[in-house]
Order: sequence, then structure tokens, then C-alpha cells
Amino acid sequence: MRLAEAADLDVDTRRNVYHQALLRYIGCNADTHLLASAFGDEIALRRDLQRIDIGNKSELAETIVRAITRTFADAPPAELVKAVERGLAEAMQVSAPILSGHCEVAQRIAERIGLSDEIRENLGQLYERWDGKGLPSGLSGNAVRLPVRLVTLAQDAIALTEAHGFETMTTMIAKRAGGGYEAELVNLFLAHAERLFAGLDGPVDRETILALEPLPHSMLDEKACDEAYLALADMIDMRMPFMFGHSRAVASLAGAAGKRLGLPASDIRDVRWAAYAHDIGELAIPVSIWMRAGKLTERETDAANLHPYHGERALASLGGDGKAIAALVLRHHARLDGSGYHRAAKGPDLSPAARVLAAAEAFQTAREARPYRPPLSDAAAAAKLRTAVKNGKLCPDAVEAVLACAGQPARRATAERLAGLTPREIEVLRLIAAGHTAKEAARQLDIAPKTADNHIQSLYSKIGVSTRAGAALYALEQGLVQHGPAVA
Ligand SMILES: [Fe+2]
Repeated sequence: MRLAEAADLDVDTRRNVYHQALLRYIGCNADTHLLASAFGDEIALRRDLQRIDIGNKSELAETIVRAITRTFADAPPAELVKAVERGLAEAMQVSAPILSGHCEVAQRIAERIGLSDEIRENLGQLYERWDGKGLPSGLSGNAVRLPVRLVTLAQDAIALTEAHGFETMTTMIAKRAGGGYEAELVNLFLAHAERLFAGLDGPVDRETILALEPLPHSMLDEKACDEAYLALADMIDMRMPFMFGHSRAVASLAGAAGKRLGLPASDIRDVRWAAYAHDIGELAIPVSIWMRAGKLTERETDAANLHPYHGERALASLGGDGKAIAALVLRHHARLDGSGYHRAAKGPDLSPAARVLAAAEAFQTAREARPYRPPLSDAAAAAKLRTAVKNGKLCPDAVEAVLACAGQPARRATAERLAGLTPREIEVLRLIAAGHTAKEAARQLDIAPKTADNHIQSLYSKIGVSTRAGAALYALEQGLVQHGPAVA
């Protein structure tokens, strides 16, 4: 955005730069398994690729050789040589359709979340270059849109600085003038480089990013957020074929089960959104680990088990409602007896919504195939969950609700949840437990004070308390007011 300002761009173009910088990789999750099977650890490969001039054939070949060598490090030398030869020969054949696919997917996601035609067009030019040596269409010069060229230069400059330091970066960018980027933009960048980089290595938080957006801010309403979370779900699941549709299925099961249990509408919404995004932290872990048919090493298991943590970090930056979503994502593999991961969160730390999400995730995963096992039948998956209930790992009410919603015959009548409180009474209970008066609760829920009073009397008698403090303790015990991160 600093470079856009230095270039004196109008507000619309700056807005396009902003979105291009934030969203350019939203399609790059697609077909990652193909990339990984050709070149190994795609996260390391992507970092290496950021630092080279992709238009330079010998730099590109060197990077590919390095990636393949990393993958076949333990293989006999003859096999390594063969893999390198094959990899070099296939590099473009394999990469071109994958990278073109990334652009197409990015454009479709942008369309689904209502971004402008211009932003979509930019996303479709992700790997295009000034000299025409890019992808997907080999556009050149001004046919590559200015926000694309500008963001590519800015990102490369940052990656090169991280790899080689500021001085070397400026030399390397200067050398690429007329190649990857137009000379005019390179000159402008170099003239201001020091100022552009001042303080860039400091912490970047949500406020910093929001402050960069040209006014007025674009906001999503509840319905648009729903679409955005759904797009996120599809984006996450497109990484590996066996995940296709996983997050959608978990969301629909968890949402239905939450409703069946009589949770308040806001909890049902949160659990659905959390289900859409629950595996976003998997993106921080190389595909090859998830695709492995054999056993993982202890180190790989540790890395994989950190994905709820990475997910929580990613979503917490949304602020507002995102914090509740992040708290659920953090707990999606938690178990009541503390045997889950990544933190050993336990029963009291798991809200009804968190229990529903864990049960829905466990059921849906069991009935999907994974590289190391075939899918279970629905009946076998149900039996597996009921065993987990018996062993004190999953919540019986959450599991029965999920299974009923998945069309499984009920084992027993679903227990009356939360003393038979209505969704509205749960909302009122939460507010008074958090220290609000009946009047304040009424205002927040947009109901008459008299109605709030009635709800309070009714819920007190249902849970068998007669004071606010008693009700607050009940809310704590039931996990109704817990949203912060689990305590290790
Ligand atoms: Fe997960």
C-alpha cells in the first residue's frame, strides 16, 4: 500500500492493490496434493519460489532440484538422480495446469464472496509477468494489470529481504527491471525503498491491516459472512481429494445437532461457521503428512496435532464474533477426558457448542476415507462414537444429537439438555452470569424488561437456584460462558 501511495494511484486502484495483496493466494490450495507428489514439501517449495526469478530458467531448475533432493534425501543415489531428471522434465507440464487452476479457483471464490469484477480479473493474473514469461496466459506489458504487477514486486522485495537482506534485495530487484517488472515501477520502488521498508518487520495486527484499507471499508453482513465461511470451507477442502466436502458436511451436521439440542441461534451460527473453518490450520502443515498412508513419526504427529492451534491463531485475528469461532476451532479435537489435542482441554472447558463440533467432526471423519484407512459405514462410525462416549471422551448428548441428525437410529431418548432451558433462557442466563442486570439483558436481546424477568424466574426454577450467583455458577459449570483459549 505504501508503494501504491508512492505511485500516486487513485483510490479505486489502491483498493484493488489492497485486495490483491490480501487475497492473491485464495485459490492456491487447489490440487496441492499434485504439487506435493511431484515436488515434496510444498510449503518449503513455495518459500523457495518466492525468492527466485521464476522467469530465469536456471534459477527455477535449481529450486526444483533442491525440492526433489529434499524429498528423496533418504533414497539411494540412483533413485534420487532419476527423480531429479523426471522432475525437471515434468516441471512445467505438471505446474502449468495447477497454477492456471489456482487462478480459476481464486476467481470463483472471489465471485462467491461478492468481490468486484476488477478484483476478480486481478486474481486471474496471479502469476503473470511484465516480460510475458508468466502464467496462466503469458500476458505481457500493460496487459498485466497494475495492481498485479505492483503487488508481485512488493511481495518479492519482502521475500528477498528476508532471504538476503535489504541491500542485496535492492540489487536483485534492480536486475529484474524489464523482466518480471517494468523498469518504471522498479525505479519508483528503488527511489523510495528505504522509506517503504521502514518498520515493516514490526508486528502486524488486525488494526494495522484494517487501517491500510482505502475508505470506505467494505463490510460483510451476516448473510455474506455465511457465504464467506462456506467459501473458506471449500478452499480448505480443495487441498486434498479425500477432504472434498468434509467441512460442509461437518457444518451441516453440527448446525442441525445444535438446533436439536436447543442451543441459542447465535451458538448454532457459531458452531456452523467454526465447522466451515475448523481445519484451516491444516494449511500450515505440508500436504505430504496428511497424504501419508503409513505411520507418521512422532515429530510429524506433533506438527499435525498443532493444526487446531494454527486455526485459532488465523481466526482470532477476525476480532468480534471471530473470537468465539476461533475458540471453537481450537477445541475441535478436544475430548472430555483431556485426551484430545492440541491442548488437553477437558470437560468444563468445553461448551455445548464445542462438544457438538467435536462429535460432528469425529462422525464425519470416521465415515470418510483417509489415505491410511478405508471409510467406515455409517453404522460402524456411530458405534465408534458411542464407544468414545462410553470411554468418557465425547459428550453423550452431543453424540446422540449428531447421530440422530445423520439419520442413525436413536440409542436412547436424547437427554434433556441444560435442564430444559429454552434457547432464549440460555441467552438470558449467559448475560446475567456475565454480570448484566435484567434490564441490560432485555436491552441486549431486544425484549421487554418484563419478559426478561419472566425468563429469569423460569430459568432459576429449572436449574434450581434462587440467586444470580447461583445461576452464574451453573452457567460456568455448563460451559456456557467460556470463550477464551483453553488453559494448558
Ligand atoms: Fe481437524
